[in-house]
Amino acid sequence: MVSQLTDAFDRKFYYLRLSITDVCNFRCNYCLPDGYKPNSNKRFLTLDEIKRVGRGFAGLGTEKVRLTGGEPTLRRDFVDIVAAIRENSAIKTLAVTTNGYRMARDIQSWKDAGLTSVNVSVDSLDARQFHAITGQDKFRQVMEGIDAGFAAGFKKIKVNTVLMRDVNDRSLATFLDWIKHRPIQLRFIELMETGEGTDLFRKHHVSGEVIRQQLLERGWQQAIRSRSDGPAQVFSHPDYQGEIGLIMPYEKDFCLSCNRLRVSAVGHLHLCLFGEQGISLRDLLEEDSQLEALKDRIQEKLQTKKQTHFLHQGNSGITQNLSFIGG
Ligand code: 5AD
Ligand code: SF4
Repeated sequence: MVSQLTDAFDRKFYYLRLSITDVCNFRCNYCLPDGYKPNSNKRFLTLDEIKRVGRGFAGLGTEKVRLTGGEPTLRRDFVDIVAAIRENSAIKTLAVTTNGYRMARDIQSWKDAGLTSVNVSVDSLDARQFHAITGQDKFRQVMEGIDAGFAAGFKKIKVNTVLMRDVNDRSLATFLDWIKHRPIQLRFIELMETGEGTDLFRKHHVSGEVIRQQLLERGWQQAIRSRSDGPAQVFSHPDYQGEIGLIMPYEKDFCLSCNRLRVSAVGHLHLCLFGEQGISLRDLLEEDSQLEALKDRIQEKLQTKKQTHFLHQGNSGITQNLSFIGG
């Protein structure tokens, strides 16, 4: 029997988000507006360390792992990382969050290595606006990447769209047309305030409620959540192949259904996206023989997880931007 990670509020943790690099080649205005700044002191987890993280969490009942970054697919050993995580039979779902710029070229090899799902960031369906938001003129490439994903056999692809006032908050009709005949789950994510993003937040934050109202008016219906679903409220419509998800971290009770833990690219365990330094696991990732000690530390530290974040009070903790911990 594997033990199941449970916190002091009886929440169970099936889901690990594992960042494997901070490096990113995009400059999304809500994340890395000035681009990634290399820091030569940082050593990202090695393939062997990543294997040990995977084994530790698999032994604690983790069923789903998401590889994030930065841009995780920038790692040269990305395919080996995918294969290494899938060596754990307990891990049934292995997802990646990517900006999509390498999908067209490489997605088949990721699938062959054992990747089971993909989330791609697309904040605009207008190539010029896409360029303005991400700092990269790669809209076509990303669209081709999504097509390549379907061609490689992914049945459904998730798209992340950060909802921003005066940017894409009036584009629902365009997004809906796009998913009418494509099995895409398009998830609007409310802009979150980060340490570096206070001005942007003041200017562009808008509640997902505006989208919710429009969906309901157009006959979309909310689906019931299942256990390992993320925090998205999902809506569907009989005339559409795609679905819409809403992620509203500022909504009351958002944290009640928290089922995820995070490990950063330097091997820190983060119990919450916001508001803490992280607990280093790296000293327990040196040898295979440390597996039990690693599991004990994770289980023990989880007991200190707080009930909720403090975003409502405008306290984003230490989270300067989300590139180091992967959204
Ligand atoms: N607010 C909301 N989502 C963010 N992401 C990164 N920064 C933010 C932010 N400030 C998420 C986006 C993006 C993914 C990689 O991280 O969903 O698609
Ligand atoms: Fe890179 Fe993702 Fe941050 Fe955009 S949101 S800059 S793609 S890490």
